[in-house]
Amino acid sequence: MTAGPMQSVKPRYTIRPLSRDDLDEVLLIEMASFSHPWLREMFEAELDMGEMSMCFAAFPASETGRGGGNNAGICGYLMSWLVADELHINNLAVAPGQRRSGAAKELLSHALKEAARKGAVWCQLEARASNAPARRLYEKFGFVGIGIRGNYYQDGEDAVVMGKTL
Ligand SMILES: CC(C)(COP(=O)(O)OP(=O)(O)OC[C@H]1O[C@@H](n2cnc3c(N)ncnc32)[C@H](O)[C@@H]1OP(=O)(O)O)[C@@H](O)C(=O)NCCC(=O)NCCS
Repeated sequence: MTAGPMQSVKPRYTIRPLSRDDLDEVLLIEMASFSHPWLREMFEAELDMGEMSMCFAAFPASETGRGGGNNAGICGYLMSWLVADELHINNLAVAPGQRRSGAAKELLSHALKEAARKGAVWCQLEARASNAPARRLYEKFGFVGIGIRGNYYQDGEDAVVMGKTL
């Protein structure tokens, strides 16, 4: 059998830690993604939490997202807390024009790997009961529904609590 050319699949997205300089772009995605978007101060508070906070941004792999203060190109972000041995995902969104091309998968995969590397053994999150895309994404990663938090969101919708062993 002859060896064919090496098939290396280039990741479509680069993931790096989120910083305050990213927040203008993050807020645009946040407002386009949620009926009750987080405010800038909420993102700032997450970033100020030190070690406990694990927040990441995704860029198309062709963008550097670094240097000269140029953060153009952020297409998604994930905000989470690492508390003891548990990762809690607090926010995840991808720009509407960039969805269904794997950015959330890359963000989630990166966060789960980083958390496991730091000793996390469990990951948990809440998703709107009606949020089929998010629930499908998490199920794809092996998350299962472990409960319902009734009336969890401002508009009265229930949250499905999902969890996964790392
Ligand atoms: C949920 C969200 C983050 C997914 O981001 P994304 O980059 O489009 O997701 P990916 O391309 O990585 O998709 C990963 C998997 O999620 C599932 N998924 C994503 N969007 C979906 C949709 N519209 N319908 C059904 N399944 C979907 C699929 O299983 C998909 O895998 P596949 O493309 O191989 O079928 C994005 O839709 C979003 O930002 N929504 C608004 C904010 C939000 O609801 N955040 C989640 C809060 S819990």
